[in-house]
Amino acid sequence: MKPIILDVDTGIDDALAISYAVNAPEVELLGVTTCFGNVTVQEATRNTLLVLEHLDSSVPVIPGAAKPLFVSRVKASATHIHGEDGIGNTLTNMSTREASKQYAPQFIIDQVRSKPHQVTIITVAAMTNLALAIMQAPDIVGLVDKVVVMGGAVTRAGNVTPHAEANIYADPEAADYVFASGIPITLVGLDVTMETLLPKKDVQVWRDKQTALSTLLADMTDFYIDAYEDFYPGIGGCGLHDPLAVGVAINPDFVTTKPLHVRVDLDGFHSLGRTVGDLRSKPANEPNMDVCLEVDAERFLEHFLSKVV
Ligand code: BDR
Ligand code: CA
Repeated sequence: MKPIILDVDTGIDDALAISYAVNAPEVELLGVTTCFGNVTVQEATRNTLLVLEHLDSSVPVIPGAAKPLFVSRVKASATHIHGEDGIGNTLTNMSTREASKQYAPQFIIDQVRSKPHQVTIITVAAMTNLALAIMQAPDIVGLVDKVVVMGGAVTRAGNVTPHAEANIYADPEAADYVFASGIPITLVGLDVTMETLLPKKDVQVWRDKQTALSTLLADMTDFYIDAYEDFYPGIGGCGLHDPLAVGVAINPDFVTTKPLHVRVDLDGFHSLGRTVGDLRSKPANEPNMDVCLEVDAERFLEHFLSKVV
């Protein structure tokens, strides 16, 4: 079992990623760290605890950054995609469980140091927690197994601006700091996540199971699919962004990657937060990550659906 840390801003696809990670026997979830993004960090923590309670999982939830490293340019909200509560307006009760008293960046540092060369960190939110961890403990760069980042759009359009993807845009400086740190990264961007669409017929299968977990996930995912249909008319499903990052950590063969040098645009007026990959035949710099460019969506979806509920 691969030890993983999942860094989330729960969020509907984050909730699906958490359920997938808890149920997949290939990985051992050491903890779920939370960050602002789709919702505030407090809401992300609350939603994460609720999902884990439905999973009957005692995996620790460790709250992290409430705001970006330097400047707050964007409101922490994505209500049109994830609902007022971040989980498709399904929130009716609070979890009875409590979050850890630790701080997410410290949890990341402690786990990586205690299991050298073993831990995979999967970030599916703004990259602030990991950036803070590296700033405080640069040695973790050489001690992680790898980092799988859901973020960016190297070869296609963004989703929050014409060029930027939401997780990178939420804290571009944090993302760029991590990209430049030398930590081994696999980038799971919109390049591939927009190819993994979940249609309503699969959600109906969860609904038919009639468990507390399957009903909760079905309700929130139907909301998410409707939001996608509004945003991308005719798309026929929702993007499984965060679950695909977990999928790539479980089985890198789900995707085809290319080593590239990628940095984040930090001062572009129209392109702030864009992940700029050097796609030239003779790039000026050595690659700093493996960028996913193709995905075997069918194989990934089959695995995801067999584990998520
Ligand atoms: C990413 O942004 C968030 O809205 C999702 O949870 C996902 O992590 C997709 O761009
Ligand atoms: Ca997310």
